[in-house]
Amino acid sequence: MASADDLMKKMVSLCKRLGFVFQSGEIYGGLQSAWDYGPLGVELKKNIESSWWDFMVRRRADVVGVDTAIITHPDVWRASGHVDNFHDPLVDCRKCRARFRADQVEGTKCPECGGELTEPRDFGLMFRTMMGAVEDEAAEVYLRPETCQSIFVNFRNIVTSSRQTLPFGIAQIGKAFRNEITARNFVFRSREFEQMEMQYFVKPGMDMDVFNAWRDKRLRYYAELGIRPEKLRLVPHEKLAHYASAAVDIEYEFPFGWGEIEGIHNRTDFDLRRHSEFSGKDLSFFDDQTRERYIPFIIEASSGVNRTLLAYLCDAYEVEQLENDTRTVLHLHPRLAPVKAGIFPLVKRDGMPEKARQIERQLNPYFRVFYDESGAVGRRYRRMDEVGTPFCITVDSQTMQDDTVTLRDRDTMLQERYPVADLVQVLGEKIASWKRP
Ligand code: GAP
Repeated sequence: MASADDLMKKMVSLCKRLGFVFQSGEIYGGLQSAWDYGPLGVELKKNIESSWWDFMVRRRADVVGVDTAIITHPDVWRASGHVDNFHDPLVDCRKCRARFRADQVEGTKCPECGGELTEPRDFGLMFRTMMGAVEDEAAEVYLRPETCQSIFVNFRNIVTSSRQTLPFGIAQIGKAFRNEITARNFVFRSREFEQMEMQYFVKPGMDMDVFNAWRDKRLRYYAELGIRPEKLRLVPHEKLAHYASAAVDIEYEFPFGWGEIEGIHNRTDFDLRRHSEFSGKDLSFFDDQTRERYIPFIIEASSGVNRTLLAYLCDAYEVEQLENDTRTVLHLHPRLAPVKAGIFPLVKRDGMPEKARQIERQLNPYFRVFYDESGAVGRRYRRMDEVGTPFCITVDSQTMQDDTVTLRDRDTMLQERYPVADLVQVLGEKIASWKRP
């Protein structure tokens, strides 16, 4: 059995070798806690985002989307409480220069080398920058540390323009930045990351029912996308954030231990009330049916693209013992898999490459596919297993006679024959009905 440390190392090296994730600026020694996504990583990331967007927005009449600026007005963060609350006291080791959160070390000695620690100093978690060429305080702006605040400040714009009535939600996917003190565990905790957040606005009094319903829906969502249910758990918060009346994390059991992939919060009316106070604009809602005016409560479902990507990869990864061999396979849900099908001519002659290229053109408008004619077909299957490609289509001598191909399943390694003309439909059905083996 590989240790948790080994497993994580294998995952990091697999991600680099296959083109999922690279360290940012690697040729210059690497930028700590910033990551670049390679050809397969970007496809996986986009599939994670589009599955979330379909589930949270496209298939619901009561949720609309937005895409707001990363650079944010400083008053947004004063109103939200981030300017006052979003920092941690830190201590540095004078000898080895390691940095720790003051509340996570005991005494005055460095836990790593025994050196003397500095006095605690406040360390702001928000990235500050200057807008425009003149460097004065008026030009100071922040890179957002979460995507939801710009949803709150647009609440009035969205209610008026999209004629939504309560209850309804606003969703967004986008970058967020936090000057994390200790960025670690690969993409799990980085300083630049992406969030998928949905804020659901409800009448006060309905909030806890809606909170419970979203908590259950969101937990089911991960299992439906292939994560083993025993690797997921709900952890209610004992200590609540200043804006919340209830909170629960969805955690995944990573090789390094349980870690939060999504937080569900009952944010009460804190956000809209604060933005009303700070902006002087009325952010209450007038309910036409009951003729009541109130500040809506907000139920938030906030997850991270990069953390869920790591959870999907860790969960899918398996080194399988076969009769005379081992194979590395990613059992990714076909909806998430970067490539849906490999297309192979069995040999590089007798018209098979041309036929395989024709199938590639037939499938390309519907699915991301990958043509490969190099090496033995068994090696080609293994390469596709390793990157999580759920299906492989092989053109053989029978294809040239009856226009059928073999379709190999990644998980069972079984092959079935199908007419070339049916491939779009068959792949669509198999992707939709996939169940984890
Ligand atoms: N608006 C609420 C909010 O931002 P959070 O628990 O701080 O709540 C939500 O963040 C999600 O964002 C987390 O569950 C995690 O998936 C992701 N996330 C937060 N900080 C992160 C970091 N430093 N690196 C990667 N993902 C992060």
